[in-house]
Amino acid sequence: MATRRTFITCALPYANGPIHLGHMVEHIQTDIYVRFLRSCGEDVTFVCADDTHGTPIELNAQKQGVTPEQFIATWDREHLRDFTGFDVKFDAWGSTNSPDNQRYAEDIYGKLKAAGTIKRRDVEAPYDPKAQRFLADRFIKGTCPNCKEPDQYGDACEKCGATFTPKELIDPRSVISGEAPVWKKSEHLFFDLKSREEWLKKKISDPGFMHPGLATQLGEFFKKGLADWDISRDGPYFGFAIPGETNKFFYVWLDAPIGYISTAEQVPGGAAQFWSRDSNARVIHCIGKDIVYFHCLFWPAVLDVAGYKVPDHVHIHGHLTVEGAKMSKSRGTFINARPYLELLDPSYLRFFYASLLGPGPEDLDLDLKQFRERVNGELVNNLGNLANRVLSILSREYGGELKAGKDALYTECFAKVPAIREAFEQWNFREAVKGILEIGTAANLFITRHEPWKLVKTDKARAQEVLTEAARVVLLIGTLLEPIVPRLAEKLSKQFGRPLFKFNELDRLELSGKIGEVAPLINRLEADVVAKLIQPTAPAAEAPKKVAAPAAEKKADAPAGPPAEIEYDDFAKVALKVGKVLAAEKVEKADKLLKLSVDLGEGEPRTIVAGIALAYTPEQLVGKNVVVVANLKPKPLKGIPSKGMLLAAGPGGKDLTLVDPGPLPPGTAVK
Ligand code: MSP
Ligand code: ZN
Repeated sequence: MATRRTFITCALPYANGPIHLGHMVEHIQTDIYVRFLRSCGEDVTFVCADDTHGTPIELNAQKQGVTPEQFIATWDREHLRDFTGFDVKFDAWGSTNSPDNQRYAEDIYGKLKAAGTIKRRDVEAPYDPKAQRFLADRFIKGTCPNCKEPDQYGDACEKCGATFTPKELIDPRSVISGEAPVWKKSEHLFFDLKSREEWLKKKISDPGFMHPGLATQLGEFFKKGLADWDISRDGPYFGFAIPGETNKFFYVWLDAPIGYISTAEQVPGGAAQFWSRDSNARVIHCIGKDIVYFHCLFWPAVLDVAGYKVPDHVHIHGHLTVEGAKMSKSRGTFINARPYLELLDPSYLRFFYASLLGPGPEDLDLDLKQFRERVNGELVNNLGNLANRVLSILSREYGGELKAGKDALYTECFAKVPAIREAFEQWNFREAVKGILEIGTAANLFITRHEPWKLVKTDKARAQEVLTEAARVVLLIGTLLEPIVPRLAEKLSKQFGRPLFKFNELDRLELSGKIGEVAPLINRLEADVVAKLIQPTAPAAEAPKKVAAPAAEKKADAPAGPPAEIEYDDFAKVALKVGKVLAAEKVEKADKLLKLSVDLGEGEPRTIVAGIALAYTPEQLVGKNVVVVANLKPKPLKGIPSKGMLLAAGPGGKDLTLVDPGPLPPGTAVK
């Protein structure tokens, strides 16, 4: 069989600020997948670039008194340095402000035009009379027409989630000058997305293309009817001038994904080997769930019309929260890549992310306590110490000399490899980690059972065989861990004095000869160091205000009866999430209660005790999706700590129906 070829990308970060640990979720997982494929002997090209155009970048450059080109150049170097610092290794790193990108953007636009899919239409756009420029939606702020929340951007309300046009805002103001915008006519160019409607419907429902739940969500757009996509902006605008037009520029989202193509131009053989229509390489994009619309509708449609290769798969991941909430500068939970790297080895975060990442788009949380516990318990104790224990005795007692015996440990562990391999292939890294830890546990048990440190005194030759067998498994673990923590795998390889085996060589892993110099692989994570990751910028006393509204006190003097109107803020305090019931059982001596294990997309399922035993049997619940109040203060019920509450409707007792969120992935927010 010919080697499978893959061309893979991460979304291009905006050249408008530092790389943070949210970006790293995407880059670490893609890098893991790439390293895994390479270890399987596959041919992979991994590229990324900076996304450099648009008004925010232009205005930030202006604020700093530099040209946009100077501004983006600084971020470009910094971004690449940060990704590299996390051991993310690209085959090429590009910029959307490059001649290659301009050439491809013009080529694609020319083809869209030739195909008759570019339309012209006058739009009335908000214009800042003082700054003398048209204003993007995000450069207008005003009061939400839906919930009346002040200070909202012109496209959507961050409070209630309503979407609208800037014109619908109450009392709109230009962010640049504070002036009220005036609406001015201007001719814009549009891509006729609707002409690709049937094709797109088919594309997104193609089982390999994208996550089926998100495809269903995208399907909503078809119901409303696909709108033309506005691809031009009037100058001044930092971007590429549209050929044949005066003072019109490509909208940043038109030329941004084209950066995937132009960056491929840098690798030997150029872009065509991946992007020509007849290319046999798989093209995969890894993106966050916030930019699905661009990658799964506009981008494939544009490529298809322009006669390029359409991506085979868009892998969509969830968002990172830190300590259970959206990253926040004032709380100090907006952690940038650089300060992390100044404190800690990237392997810790790579391992922790891997241990949380499933194949779907659930959010993941960097809970610092959990971060420390998992890293120390699993990476340091289970795996790192195993390696060190085994290799140290071999080194001390036998001068590093190995001796093969007839133990079955390796064979037993190797039996788990196909499932681990499949988990990696499915981007199900937490399953892969689980499998690797099982191997570590088996090897630790083997060592504990044989006690080589005692055996060495009574039967030195036999102890050497036991240790060699364990060392074989340590080397196996090295291969399995390499995609996740390449730096540690590299250290291990040095200690063995030989290169690691590849995934597809594991059936032949034999050890002989001598190992090299032994040293501990990785240190424990200490609480005081981890705590330094969070550096609040606001005075500490101010930070908790948001969450500290004394709900309980309010409740005490609130009148009985139907609740009074609440502010949206009150509602927003309740984190509602989709959960999947994994297991359910009766609670002894409590005929109304069931003890459930519910997956909220957090890696570890939660235990929730619910008063629904009269309405549901445990069997009816397993596999069911429910809505969970995820941030309810944990409370023991019949001695079982319950972490969350299910939403149900009805008078109670037998007459209770659980709220059914439909087939959404665990962890999806309900708002
Ligand atoms: N420039 C666009 C992408 C253009 S692709 C042709 C963009 N840039 S971004 O810097 O805002 O985000 C880059 C990627 O990082 C996106 O896939 C986004 O989902 C991801 N993340 C940004 N913050 C994130 C988290 N907090 N968590 C996980 N991923 C996040 O969008
Ligand atoms: Zn609102």
